[in-house]
Amino acid sequence: MARLELKRVVKSYGIYEAVRGVDLVIADNEFVVFVGPSGCGKSTTLRMIAGLEHVSSGEIVIGDRIVNRLQPGERDIAMVFQNYALYPHMTVAENIAFCLEQQRVPKGEIGQRIRRAAETLHIEALLDRKPGQLSGGQRQRVAMGRAIVRNPKVFLFDEPLSNLDAKLRVQMRTEIKRLHQLFPTTTVYVTHDQIEAMTMADRVVVMNAGLIEQCGPPQELYHRPATRFVASFIGSPSMNILPARLEAAGDALVLVLADGSRVSVPAERRARYAPHAGREVDFGIRPEAIVVRSERAAGATIEARVDLIEPLGASTMIYFDIAGQTLCASIDPETAPSAGTLMPLAFDMQRMHLFSRDTGRSLDVE
Ligand SMILES: Nc1ncnc2c1ncn2[C@@H]1O[C@H](COP(=O)(O)OP(=O)(O)O)[C@@H](O)[C@H]1O
Ligand SMILES: [Mg+2]
Repeated sequence: MARLELKRVVKSYGIYEAVRGVDLVIADNEFVVFVGPSGCGKSTTLRMIAGLEHVSSGEIVIGDRIVNRLQPGERDIAMVFQNYALYPHMTVAENIAFCLEQQRVPKGEIGQRIRRAAETLHIEALLDRKPGQLSGGQRQRVAMGRAIVRNPKVFLFDEPLSNLDAKLRVQMRTEIKRLHQLFPTTTVYVTHDQIEAMTMADRVVVMNAGLIEQCGPPQELYHRPATRFVASFIGSPSMNILPARLEAAGDALVLVLADGSRVSVPAERRARYAPHAGREVDFGIRPEAIVVRSERAAGATIEARVDLIEPLGASTMIYFDIAGQTLCASIDPETAPSAGTLMPLAFDMQRMHLFSRDTGRSLDVE
């Protein structure tokens, strides 16, 4: 059991800063997911926590110890990688036992811990096989078994499901969550997949270019993204983002889009946005906040020529052009038109987002 703290953590490779000052406190037993595009510094951060990379500056604290100078083996962490890193010449049982033997855990206890982990992960029948005789999903379970038998203070996962097919990935996702509920342990899980992040995390940390953009519970990131980057990264399909100018029109505020069309800002948002009147902004609206007009009288209306239709079963995505840009709306399959038809749509402006063009910061959150 341990809390984990990163204080101003920096990693430079020569003059290149891969991690540019990360501050984060992870509570005891919390499940935190780092998500962000490839190359943003997720693995580097995780590897510094594990002790596999030297920290250029800053501090890493596990429990009440600064661990910067400790070897990986002294940090009381267990890590699961994308490529499993199992020893090919050892059986599953030997793979799981290996680090316990290194720690000189008594033989009887090793056997007991292996049996318990094998039961938990449903791999009892595989204990005598070699990794080469296992499927990808089974190898992944063994790698997790090897991690849980150690009872570490902190679990670290680096894209552990990336090599699995889509169905197995979803299954293992649930399984890792279940394991965490069964054996609550401080966990840092890295993925580039925002759906994995949203479904697994107590708290999601969105990284971009070596820095934390925002961290918070999944729903908060979705509904109150602090930056344009988080707004477009979280959610699938992405939030629609339209360049606009915010203008005062008497007492009201309007957004003037690239083609000159005008969209009114709801009265409740006026006070908040008024200081930004006259500025260039980015107007964000999620696909599900674009509704078929007959559903709702209020809101800015659009006549949209539907270019493309994607039926997903529970909802249907329609794509259309507005102000020189392609937008996506998520609508009820019942109301889905055929491609090429004109459709009356409306922005549900109660669910609008507004970002500063210059800084990318949301004008909706402090
Ligand atoms: N050993 C290294 N030497 C130089 N640059 C590195 C090294 N390891 C990683 N990087 C660079 O650091 C950045 C962050 O990498 P990484 O943490 O692996 O990203 P992520 O896991 O988010 O995809 C990338 O631009 C990568 O090229
Ligand atoms: Mg990585």
